[in-house]
Amino acid sequence: MSKNNEKLKRIGILTGGGDCPGLNAVIRGVAKPAHDQGLTVLGIQDGFEGLVEGKARQLYNTDVSGILTIGGTILGSSNKGDPFHWPTEFGNEIKIVDKSEDAIRHYEGWNLDALIAIGGDGTMHISKKLMDMGMNIVGVPKTIDNDLYATDQTFGHDSAVYVVTEALDRLHTTASSHHRVMVLEAMGRYAGWLALHGGLAGGADIILLPEFPFEWENIYDKVIERNMMGKRFSLVCVAEGAKPKDGEMVVKAKDIRRTDPIQLGGIAELVAKKISDNTGLETRYTILGHLQRGGSPTPFDRILSTKFGTYAIEMAIKKKFGRMAALKGSDISSVTIESAISKQKLVTKKCQAVQAAVAVGIGFGVDL
Ligand code: F6P
Repeated sequence: MSKNNEKLKRIGILTGGGDCPGLNAVIRGVAKPAHDQGLTVLGIQDGFEGLVEGKARQLYNTDVSGILTIGGTILGSSNKGDPFHWPTEFGNEIKIVDKSEDAIRHYEGWNLDALIAIGGDGTMHISKKLMDMGMNIVGVPKTIDNDLYATDQTFGHDSAVYVVTEALDRLHTTASSHHRVMVLEAMGRYAGWLALHGGLAGGADIILLPEFPFEWENIYDKVIERNMMGKRFSLVCVAEGAKPKDGEMVVKAKDIRRTDPIQLGGIAELVAKKISDNTGLETRYTILGHLQRGGSPTPFDRILSTKFGTYAIEMAIKKKFGRMAALKGSDISSVTIESAISKQKLVTKKCQAVQAAVAVGIGFGVDL
């Protein structure tokens, strides 16, 4: 299938998994230089779903002009489109089948020389398997969760941190007026970077993360201690995947059509209820949900996405396949997709953001 001794002529581009601000900026960053070099760019619709089902359209300069600041993705995305985990109805039953041969067939049928896959951990795992079947792929790391190993930061994270921060700022004033404990739930199922960075920027008093299972008493003690010191309100920022030491994550729904079937949500309600029941303090909770994934990218994400996109097309032209663009310090370089998926980037006790949070008195619901 690969035509690696010929000059690159046609590339495909797709956005996989959950969307986030900055996707369109990457698409623009890839397509504009590609057009300048005479390449044809095929926009594959709805992530890998489009590759399996053969949904794509050519992207012209007019399609990618004016999209830098627009959230979401002009290509559409899906977290149910894993070619190796394809839900298919058999009568009343949904069975999971392998549709990777269809993906390869369309890649070949479209005469693509390479594919730029923009996505998170799931997208990179799928990319690796398709590469093993002969596809030429260049990865671009996306996710509000910032949990991709091998890049200092993914695009989308900064924009989501901004939303969490702004929410905490707003909750701060009303918490203070009503002397309440306000609990804010951020996304982040296995990695708590979003709640950590948002909580740090928004001045949370307690941050609860999936990486550090918490003790209920530790949380009660912290809010009571603040009250006794005359601070009659508290802000708690909890990641959706956080759980107590003796408990489980709060699962909202399960959907076997997704690669990760679990949909989380609701830990904030539980935390607020437990604090109220056990301290007598008045509590309220807010679940931010998909507000964190929508809207315009921050300036940081616009710049990062543009750098990632332009770097990725350069990699493709130089035939540096099987690699993912990665941020190292302030520069973009690349790593193998294999190494990028070798482990997940999780929050540790030693990381600077945690150390800084502890130093300014933020609690994590557990002694670190
Ligand atoms: O992976 C990004 C993420 O935002 C997770 O933090 C969250 O659990 C998930 O997406 C939600 O996905 P969906 O939109 O499918 O509910």
